[in-house]
Amino acid sequence: MATGLKKGLTSYGDAEFSLFLRKAFIKAMGLSDDALARPIVGIANTFSDFNACHGNVPKLVEAIKRGVMLAGGLPMEFPTISLHESFAYPTSMFLRNLMAMDTEEMLRAQPMDSVVLIGGCDKTIPAQMMAAASADVPAVFVPVGPMLVGHHRGETLGACTDCRRLWGEFRAGRIDAAEIEAINERLAPTPGTCMVMGTASTMACVVEIMGLALPYSATIPATHADRLRSAEASGRQAVKMATSGGPKPGELMTAAAFRNALVVMQAIGGSTNALIHLTAAAGRLGLPIDLDAVDALGREVPVLVDLKPSGRHYMEHFHWAGGVPRLMHELADFLDLDARTVEGRSLSDVLADVDTKDVQDVIRPRANPIHAGGSMAVLRGNLAPRGAILKQSAASPQLLQHEGRAIVFDSLEDLAARIDSPGLDVSADDVLVLRNAGPIGAPGMPEAGYLPIPKKLAAQGVKDMVRLSDARMSGTAFGTIVLHMTPEAALGGPLAMVRTGDLIRLDTNARRIDLLVGEAELELRQQAFERDGAPGAAPVPDRGYAALFHRSVLQADEGCDFDFLVPGRRSS
Ligand code: FES
Repeated sequence: MATGLKKGLTSYGDAEFSLFLRKAFIKAMGLSDDALARPIVGIANTFSDFNACHGNVPKLVEAIKRGVMLAGGLPMEFPTISLHESFAYPTSMFLRNLMAMDTEEMLRAQPMDSVVLIGGCDKTIPAQMMAAASADVPAVFVPVGPMLVGHHRGETLGACTDCRRLWGEFRAGRIDAAEIEAINERLAPTPGTCMVMGTASTMACVVEIMGLALPYSATIPATHADRLRSAEASGRQAVKMATSGGPKPGELMTAAAFRNALVVMQAIGGSTNALIHLTAAAGRLGLPIDLDAVDALGREVPVLVDLKPSGRHYMEHFHWAGGVPRLMHELADFLDLDARTVEGRSLSDVLADVDTKDVQDVIRPRANPIHAGGSMAVLRGNLAPRGAILKQSAASPQLLQHEGRAIVFDSLEDLAARIDSPGLDVSADDVLVLRNAGPIGAPGMPEAGYLPIPKKLAAQGVKDMVRLSDARMSGTAFGTIVLHMTPEAALGGPLAMVRTGDLIRLDTNARRIDLLVGEAELELRQQAFERDGAPGAAPVPDRGYAALFHRSVLQADEGCDFDFLVPGRRSS
């Protein structure tokens, strides 16, 4: 098979001419024949002025290049789409698949023997995992690393669990405008990803436990020297992989590796979004993620990592406590330790190097978990026949078994218009329902599942209510929040049939979420939906990426990938 510069020649009908032309152009960069004869390591640069989480990427690129050159390779940096959570309209999830397609096609189109993928902010590592699975070029992931914590009036702060908590305090009138402005400058004090166990931290832990990234690379703070040394080592590793031709992502992203990722996701109190992303990446390889198996793991695997939003600490504390390898030590009997890593080692080999004599209180022993029952529960019932997710470790225990009156919002716009209305008939025992916020309905399944507590209840001190939606939720959020209700309302899922005043029962013990309305009445509502369509649904786009997205996006239980990117799942 062709390697280096000879790989994937541009089609001119004359391969030697194609190579001649390629060399002529690349020599304009001042490269010598010696350099061009080396194994080529691509470096996917996801720096963007719009992506502060990736603010350290230029330094990481420099360190990776150093590692590649020290090991005798030729580093070739190239750009891909970069996504930041707060700078992607309508939501970064809408663009995840576009970034996955961009990255996959660039890995295929350009001549590289291996690649280093620099990701971090929520959707970037998932997009790169999907791309790596499909392109199957040997790949090393380099997470950008978490931010350091902020401080305010003696309190430790972190994006974005504390963003939400303190914004809630401001809405309730307990913090004034001047103080919330001061807090705004302290929540994200350095480059790097959110330093709680949000989606970015979860996905960084996922690529580490799946062997796609070097040990400790998930947790080293973004601004620390160790982060650069890890990047340099990743560059060196990429040269070994370029030379030997592997391991390829498909050899590491096995069913056992995905199961290990699900175990770690439960034990870290990981983001519910990670389940969608893992499902999408596994789907690229024809490996289904079974929601019932996820729930079974959730019943067995305890939450051991004491990080916000489920616990107290932040990512830098997790790192100094020993990070993912130290956690593996506590979880060894749940994990398949024969799974391999980019270094060619097994997880057992990684575990053999772990120092367990440390004094720390971030990674709990099995005998003293944060939450004995794991972080995520999979619910079914007449409101979610294809499943829904509840992050029970971040929920209020007294609300996990609850029955209440539905207060329905037809769309994000409807929610924004009415949630704080003084005339809204709502009490703390009610169940807030948001629909048309799923993959198609919104579109892009925004992180709107954390419905705000109505202002008048927040002012009375209400901090949590049962909330349901077909949306997602930021991994940094907390509350008794049922998400990913599938099928979504815009497709005529049961959520579309709920009316304000209906009774809804959340029975977490039985893993059920049900609408307590008779069959005959539901049938009438179904007929009305088929006749009148979904109130509040977004108009159907007729051009561009939005039209492609609308036509092709799959539901949450299939990872919200595009049907034409999943083997055997093409649309008709
Ligand atoms: Fe980028 Fe949180 S906004 S990781």
